[in-house]
Amino acid sequence: MLNSYEIINFKHHKIYKIKIDGIDTSKLLEDIDIDRKFLVGDIPFNPKEMGSPGIQFSTNLSNSKSIFEIKDKCYNIVKDVYTSISNKEVISGYQNSWIFISTASNPDSQYHQHSKFSYELPTLTTSFTWTYYVDVPNNDEQTDSIMIMPEAGYLYIFGGTLWHRPEVNPNSTNDRIVLAGNVLFNAKSDSSNLI
Ligand SMILES: [Fe+2]
Repeated sequence: MLNSYEIINFKHHKIYKIKIDGIDTSKLLEDIDIDRKFLVGDIPFNPKEMGSPGIQFSTNLSNSKSIFEIKDKCYNIVKDVYTSISNKEVISGYQNSWIFISTASNPDSQYHQHSKFSYELPTLTTSFTWTYYVDVPNNDEQTDSIMIMPEAGYLYIFGGTLWHRPEVNPNSTNDRIVLAGNVLFNAKSDSSNLI
């Protein structure tokens, strides 16, 4: 069953905003912190020469139950939204996912988009990108008239070609903690509509 969603019109794109229920946020934050410390180290942000602001690491290999569950939940909602708006049947689906953390000390943010599904398979194009906000800055200042103030506990789904930039949060006592994924569908048109 498709969750109800709100559509946000943003720079000629549609963003689907969906509340996610049933998440144990404190357990999820605990597991993210364990993965972060083990995989990346206890650093405030990536070195600038890496070209990936904040702290970012793949969750493709994570077997933490809470992380696996939210990835699976978000993938299935993206699939439901895709199926309902495209009227195509999904034969198979693929997901490349990561965590993004921006602490108050993170100085850097860059405009980017996610049309490339993964760097391992560079010829593949993302169908949809999703972001799930586990935590959000508590005094994010609106600096741009074209800006979305994300809410914790919500999933946002948008096309991979949408250019965007997470705002830095130097005055926040909360970190911005986001799970995100690129989803790619192998789909065929629903032939029942052609008869
Ligand atoms: Fe992004």
